Amino acid sequence: MLLRPMTLADVDQVEEIEQVSFPTPWPKNAFHYELTHNRHALCWVAEWNEPGQPPVVVADIVVWLIIDEAHIGTLAVRPGYRGQGIGERLLAQALLESARAGATHALLEVRASNRVAQNLYRKFGFEQVGIRTAYYSDTQEDALLMTLPALDADRLAELAQPG
Ligand SMILES: CC(C)(COP(=O)(O)OP(=O)(O)OC[C@H]1O[C@@H](n2cnc3c(N)ncnc32)[C@H](O)[C@@H]1OP(=O)(O)O)[C@@H](O)C(=O)NCCC(=O)NCCS
Repeated sequence: MLLRPMTLADVDQVEEIEQVSFPTPWPKNAFHYELTHNRHALCWVAEWNEPGQPPVVVADIVVWLIIDEAHIGTLAVRPGYRGQGIGERLLAQALLESARAGATHALLEVRASNRVAQNLYRKFGFEQVGIRTAYYSDTQEDALLMTLPALDADRLAELAQPG
């Protein structure tokens, strides 16, 4: 599996992943905008390679770099590829790239019901620091606001490795 920056050629597959991952997925043009107009956006994908098969984009992440802060905008793994460490590696790589670009800490919003994602974030050291009430307009669900106060480049580099 290869972790690499997202390109415009990936956007169709990224949209597919988002469609099956979220009640209100980001539309294709949102990724197009991040790639072409937002110089503060860090957009990466995980690409799965099987011998003799075309490569498949299996996960995507967008992080906004705002001075010293990395704000995770979206992260999703294709359903058939979940539970094998891909989300963890891609998140680690994106946070590592964020640290290299000057971010010292990270934050994100996650649906209150999304225990799987919360587990992933807690594994990295993210802690809940607040609740945004009815943050998701589709279901009126609350968001947990989680922060990671310090980006540890050595640990992130380890988490980004296979195995
Ligand atoms: C959340 C998501 C990105 C995790 O990606 P993934 O590749 O399946 O996760 P990984 O295999 O890398 O697992 C990393 C950690 O996540 C947590 N986790 C993953 N699957 C889990 C499950 N089924 N139940 C509980 N915790 C789970 C665990 O803490 C796991 O660490 P561990 O293996 O040491 O226990 C993926 O489930 C997904 O795309 N979900 C839908 C979209 C979404 O919710 N995105 C997050 C928005 S905030």
